[in-house]
Amino acid sequence: MISLNRIHGLAVLSAASLLLAGCWERPPVDSKQVGYRGTGMVDIKNPRIVGPRIAEQTVPEVIPAAPPEEAPILASQVYENVQVLGDLSVAEFARAMVALTAWVSPEQSCLYCHVEGESMAADTLYTKVVARRMLQMNRDLNTGWTSHVKETGVTCYTCHRGQPVPAEIWFADPGPKTAMGAAGNRFGQNAAAESVALASLPYDPFTPFLLQDQNIRVGSLQALPDGSNPAGTKTAEWTYGLMMHMSDSLGLNCTGCHQSRFFGIWEESTPQRVSAWHGIRMARTLNVEYIEPLTPVFPENRLGPLGDVGKVYCATCHQGLQKPLNGVSMLKDYPEFGKPWREPLPRLVAPETGTEAAAEPVATTAAAQ
Ligand code: HEC
Ligand code: HEC
Ligand code: HEC
Ligand code: HEC
Repeated sequence: MISLNRIHGLAVLSAASLLLAGCWERPPVDSKQVGYRGTGMVDIKNPRIVGPRIAEQTVPEVIPAAPPEEAPILASQVYENVQVLGDLSVAEFARAMVALTAWVSPEQSCLYCHVEGESMAADTLYTKVVARRMLQMNRDLNTGWTSHVKETGVTCYTCHRGQPVPAEIWFADPGPKTAMGAAGNRFGQNAAAESVALASLPYDPFTPFLLQDQNIRVGSLQALPDGSNPAGTKTAEWTYGLMMHMSDSLGLNCTGCHQSRFFGIWEESTPQRVSAWHGIRMARTLNVEYIEPLTPVFPENRLGPLGDVGKVYCATCHQGLQKPLNGVSMLKDYPEFGKPWREPLPRLVAPETGTEAAAEPVATTAAAQ
């Protein structure tokens, strides 16, 4: 006979699991050890969340390559106003125009950047001016930022995915309006924001870290407060906000990069953390050198609530996957977008061995064992 207690127990259990169902990812999930045993460093992925993302995010069919030529006529010799792609043969140049149209403005066609009936050399539309800067940025990414994008590289498609405005961009965020005016000042947080994976952390950790170069630190290097600790409470909160964004954009949990006993330690971090360190500097450089200076070129309706242009963060390329487009390289099929347009940028110093909690990354050895 089933006792009353047992029935009660079952009822409580099933009520609890009903309640939890809303905030619960159904097992089984895949987990992979990524650090030393016993440190809890595991990368946990739910195949029912990551699987569909991988299936959706495929690369478009490759446009046939331009035929190789012995002594090609260069675009710079034929066209009037070619400032970046002048080193391509005329056939390669045409292919590049067809490709970027398919990646950025397939519905609007060539006329998104060129005016019908006008010379294609004219810089009439703001979109063409922006696109030229994007060409330079794209080539710089593939030649100057191999510390992050490796051989895989990026094309316009990595960010644009067939749309003129990439789906994942950020603007400086004044926050939601409150009913209480100044008395309701949220100080940039406590508003469950999507930018930080619905945490109540500061919803714009991007201005301090991906535009300005403030220190991304939580732990102090000093045992006693002597005024030299670079990390105040606000910096700590911004740091966690940025980390939530990074984790969410990559579908990679904190322990996919960190040893959570001590988040700052580089020796026990995974190689992914070093990659992310370069990614932060890369995103910052793109915003400062390429995107922000375009602000006066954009029409007002493209600007954010504070008058700034849409900028790049991790999600712009990654879109929920640990490697954008699941690591498929489009660059190898489109070398037109991978040539240097100027001297490659000086490389940042690569990670090397150092002390605990150094501000700069050091070699990571955390192979699973
Ligand atoms: C997203 C914007 C964009 C789209 C769409 C686009 N172009 Fe262009 N086009 C440019 C830019 C930018 C340049 C200048 C490149 C440079 O400075 O290296 C250019 C230059 C040209 C030139 C050289 C003109 C000259 O004499 O200087 C031709 C020809 C051209 N495009 C043809 C096309 C064709 C054909 C299409 C459609 C298949 C197309 N473009 C679609 C942005 C675009
Ligand atoms: C790293 C990500 C990234 C890459 C790679 C990239 N773009 Fe962009 N693009 C952006 C961002 C961010 C904006 C600004 C969004 C906005 O319009 O507010 C933008 C805007 C544009 C616009 C203006 C769209 C509009 O309607 O306002 C054009 C045109 C454009 N990009 C063309 C290109 C071309 C062509 C390439 C490849 C050579 C390219 N982009 C590569 C991130 C990228
Ligand atoms: C993709 C790798 C990656 C993921 C995922 C990640 N982090 Fe980080 N984290 C970094 C990097 C890189 C830095 C150092 C940033 C810098 O110095 O520019 C850092 C710094 C930190 C710091 C500051 C450490 C110090 O020196 O004071 C804390 C705390 C932190 N992360 C917590 C988290 C938390 C919590 C999560 C999960 C929500 C997380 N991280 C997810 C890469 C990652
Ligand atoms: C311009 C596009 C772009 C942006 C922006 C970008 N990434 Fe990446 N990222 C890539 C590409 C491409 C790769 C794949 C490189 C490879 O094949 O190893 C990559 C790889 C990585 C990896 C290594 C994954 C692995 O398993 O080896 C990490 C970690 C990473 N990115 C973190 C970040 C973080 C954090 C940010 C934001 C601060 C960021 N990325 C911004 C393009 C980008």
